[in-house]
Amino acid sequence: MLIALGVTGGIGAYKAVEVARGLQKQGHEVVAIMTSSASRFVGPVTFEAITRRRVISDQWEPGANADIEHIALASTIDLLLVAPATANIIGKLANGIADDFLSTLYTATRAPVLIAPAMNTNMFAHHAVRRNLDTLAANGVRFVEPGEGYLACGWIGRGRLAEPDEIVAAAEAVLRPPGPLRGRKVLVTAGPTYEDLDPVRYVGNRSSGRMGFALAAEAARRGAVVTLIAGPTSLDPPSVHQVVRVRRAAEMHAAVLEQAGDAAVVIMAAAVADYAPEQRVNQKVHKGADTITLVLTRTPDILADLGARRLAAGTGPVLVGFAAETEDVVARAAEKLHRKHADLIVANDVSRGDAGFEVATNAVTLVSRDGVDPLPLETKVRVAAEILDRVERLLAPAEVRA
Ligand code: CTP
Repeated sequence: MLIALGVTGGIGAYKAVEVARGLQKQGHEVVAIMTSSASRFVGPVTFEAITRRRVISDQWEPGANADIEHIALASTIDLLLVAPATANIIGKLANGIADDFLSTLYTATRAPVLIAPAMNTNMFAHHAVRRNLDTLAANGVRFVEPGEGYLACGWIGRGRLAEPDEIVAAAEAVLRPPGPLRGRKVLVTAGPTYEDLDPVRYVGNRSSGRMGFALAAEAARRGAVVTLIAGPTSLDPPSVHQVVRVRRAAEMHAAVLEQAGDAAVVIMAAAVADYAPEQRVNQKVHKGADTITLVLTRTPDILADLGARRLAAGTGPVLVGFAAETEDVVARAAEKLHRKHADLIVANDVSRGDAGFEVATNAVTLVSRDGVDPLPLETKVRVAAEILDRVERLLAPAEVRA
């Protein structure tokens, strides 16, 4: 995930270097933002060498406004972490003052914010600072409390920047909240499959992969170790633990079975071809007769296979399938739930123009043994969150569902 690390002018600024390294060790990308007083304590070059990114230290630097950098960054970061945070920056953030890059980024971002204050004991106890900290806390900002001990100013007391390990752990806790998916393997399939006829033609479908990609990203956000098995799509996959690219249904079948063994959840969002050409011709087929007949044969049903295996073994992952339908949506989804021994079927009516294939929104009905739950038209990102809420509930009792 991408973390903006704001460094302000405190003696603890040198510890922010260790924080950046620690975050990188956890697999995150870090972009450092330094206030002008921070640069007096530690050089931007240090952060640049560690993060391997340009350090943002001046809002007015040529280039910084070409793509309105604070806005561009505000929408791409997963976390804004300020360490160390002085009384001055805390005051600015609490009061909406946006007069440098860091304070402007704070007002522009909707990412979670984590602040590690560091200052002299009396400053930390001052009513103005307390009030500003309370304001930030009331608005959802989280804190890594400063430690007690000898302060650089010679005082003994509370105000010393928390240790880098503690700050990294706090960032991890914000980014990967300790829900039921944390650390569990989630396998998601996405996109269409292409069944080749010859080197230039294939039988495919209109799936864009958006729904599966949104599910993979949301599961990763909840701390799951996500393997995404994607058919041919033009969209960029989200950054998850592992992305496996496949083309044909048979390849997807093999990849899913190989990966499903230690998965806690398998979500089959891919639109897998039900039939594939009986044979793929190695050379391009040239036209001839007025009509030709394509002979197609059944592909393996991946979800049904997983359901049958789980039934036989008496244990296995939570299984989620999709049902893209044009009529009798809920009845067909319920039938698939039973036939494939799945736990949840996400049914969508693909005859609607605003839901299903190639669009960013979806209107689905969740069909499980507990009943039928229609959701309103929402973005696929929101739908993914709703589906994973349901999955988290299903994970709780880990008994077999047959
Ligand atoms: N599926 C699968 N393997 C296949 C076909 C489908 O794993 N060969 C999965 C899909 O990923 C989806 C679910 O099964 O999660 C339902 O897919 P769908 O095509 O709607 O169902 P089918 O079983 O193909 O049923 P029908 O053709 O009767 O609609």
